[in-house]
Amino acid sequence: MTTRVIKNIGELTTNDPTLGAGATGRLHNAAMVIDHDVVLWVGPNAQAPAADEMIDARDCAVIPGFVDSHTHLVFAGERSDEFEARMSGTSYDGGGIVSTVNATRAASSDELRRATQTRLRELRAGGVTTVEIKSGYALDVDGESRLIDIANQFSDEVTFLGAHVVPREYAADRGGYVNLVRGPMLAACAPKSKWADVFCDRGAFDVDESREILTAARSAGLGLRVHGNQLGETGGVALAVEMNAASVDHCSFLSDDDIEQLAASATVATLLPGADFSTRANYSSARRLSDRGALIALATDCNPGTSYVTSMAFVLAIAVRDMRMEFDDALWSATRGGALALRRDDVGHLGVGAKADVVILDAPRAVHLAYRPGASIVRRVITAQ
Ligand code: NIG
Ligand code: FE
Repeated sequence: MTTRVIKNIGELTTNDPTLGAGATGRLHNAAMVIDHDVVLWVGPNAQAPAADEMIDARDCAVIPGFVDSHTHLVFAGERSDEFEARMSGTSYDGGGIVSTVNATRAASSDELRRATQTRLRELRAGGVTTVEIKSGYALDVDGESRLIDIANQFSDEVTFLGAHVVPREYAADRGGYVNLVRGPMLAACAPKSKWADVFCDRGAFDVDESREILTAARSAGLGLRVHGNQLGETGGVALAVEMNAASVDHCSFLSDDDIEQLAASATVATLLPGADFSTRANYSSARRLSDRGALIALATDCNPGTSYVTSMAFVLAIAVRDMRMEFDDALWSATRGGALALRRDDVGHLGVGAKADVVILDAPRAVHLAYRPGASIVRRVITAQ
């Protein structure tokens, strides 16, 4: 077992309040020891034990690897024309999903794997060490099953999203599609998925349809997630809380009641500022959520329609500048918050025993992630084996 000591860390964010100040568990002039798997020791630089290898992090900030708890990485094609139209005033209604479905159905598995790999490489280069990946761009039994297989080659956090929208061939038979998703499609995908997700919103699935699908998914042993309240106060948040979903994602429209329900629940509000940015929508009310004590995660939502974003630093910059989150809260949400949204305790922090997913920044303080938008300040990403 090779051990490594990371020494001379200018600012270390552990997200472990037993190790340092506040929720970020921050230490200065610190060191940590890891092996290939886990964090073994964290403390003052002067007390660092010897190890087989030394990594010098002088003048650097160190943070836990980002946990990107919401992506749609497996797709073919691109929709830059739709983005341009939106920037000229067209609004997003989910209608473009069908064009990605057509391109994805037509793509070979090799093409899809290569495209997924490229996007994942971009995420990793920016410090993402845990990534959730959804299906949802095939919308038939064999196609969704194929996307789940591909997602499994890249992550353990795989989500079945057969309920993304109703595909064209079922336009006249919505009930038939809901039955397909909760029946044969779920049966094919559940054994190789960890989660099920439903786009519960205007133009996608209503609350009753979503509940039917989520109930079947829960019976099949899957954890639950919801795309909710992206396009309006459409009931997705309340449904997610009612079903004890791990997370409800988007939350761009939130009533006071939605916020109270989230605050009283274990369901994480996952905010996706890249989607609000790229659809020119209102940003989610992060401050209203945090004031009431709701749990918040931040994720990229990387997808070709609403958020072709692979940079968590960019997400942090928007969260801080435009959503007025405190930087430390935003960093926590992009790490520990993402882990909670995946109901994981082994990632998103650097306490002793956590996975050794560590990001070393070419900057004296982590806040440079938001302070220097557009710059690549990730020097090194260490991933637990
Ligand atoms: O998270 N809102 C639903 N699903 C995706 C976008 C899908 C698309 O437009 O391709 C999202 O924003
Ligand atoms: Fe999404």
